[in-house]
Amino acid sequence: MALTIGVDVGGTKVAAGVVDDRGTILEKVRRPTPSTNPKETAEVIAEVVELLKGKYEDVTAVGLGTAGFVDETRSTVLFAPNLAWRDEPIKQKVESLVGLPVVVENDGNATAWGEARFGAGRGEDHLVLITLGTGIGGGVVLNGELYRGRFGIGAEVGHFRVVPDGRRCGCGNRGCWEQYASGNALVHEARDLARVAPAMAGRLLELAGGTPEGIRGPEVTQAAREGDQAALECFRTVAQWAGQGLADLSAILDPGAFIIGGGLSDAGDLLLDPVRVAFGEALTGRGHRPLPDIRIAELGSAAGIVGAADLARVPAPTL
Ligand code: BGC
Ligand code: NA
Ligand code: ZN
Repeated sequence: MALTIGVDVGGTKVAAGVVDDRGTILEKVRRPTPSTNPKETAEVIAEVVELLKGKYEDVTAVGLGTAGFVDETRSTVLFAPNLAWRDEPIKQKVESLVGLPVVVENDGNATAWGEARFGAGRGEDHLVLITLGTGIGGGVVLNGELYRGRFGIGAEVGHFRVVPDGRRCGCGNRGCWEQYASGNALVHEARDLARVAPAMAGRLLELAGGTPEGIRGPEVTQAAREGDQAALECFRTVAQWAGQGLADLSAILDPGAFIIGGGLSDAGDLLLDPVRVAFGEALTGRGHRPLPDIRIAELGSAAGIVGAADLARVPAPTL
């Protein structure tokens, strides 16, 4: 059985696994992402790969799923709004450290591929995946193939502008979708409420140790699960933006399914229900057209690992 290693490089952690050709992870490791130093990040990636390679000597390749704009040769991270990398030749760096072929892929693309082959997207050959986390990742599968665009950097759905002159984004622009519909946007919403109207945010503040800055995603989700009105309102606000954005993506791409992953998707129906409502109210031609399904990702945080590992296979896998 052919084994490859998938590595998911995020803003907070580097997670890696040995994956077989059915998408099963045989062994997993994770390390914190070193602060902002690209060189150390390559070393941490090499370290986790070496560790796994030591246990499974027959691994043949490494797939790296990373946030940011990956060039068309799948070697260099050109730009990453939420990471320190600029023109980072990560493929060559990691290859020289581990002595295995390395394929670099955008994290949203890798996750979309993982879900399309082995998760919530099985059986769909037109799908759009979004991850709602620090930013918004995107991955588009069209006609059963991962869509990369002319320069490798398509499906950057987090950066379409939803608010003229809106909030500043890590990409430098203002009003990008990821400033309104990501996991970070949910936290932004909850902290804002706790600062301006603390009397309404009692439960959120309690869970967060008393300060608005202590509120993170899991606190908002927990409070919402308990039925806390303030937290539910934050979810509705973010879901409104998310549903509207998916409706716009439907107008352009007409997928059969949307799959929602990333930290925020842990909230399940708390998120999905209001997203579906907002989507239904915003979709062009509503009432006169088939509706795509909107689902939560199945593979959770493992999808990036599984997808990246699969994309590193030669010959390239198909759906
Ligand atoms: C980046 C994407 C990335 C996404 C999720 C966005 O800000 O532009 O490249 O896929 O965040 O990590
Ligand atoms: Na992408
Ligand atoms: Zn942006």
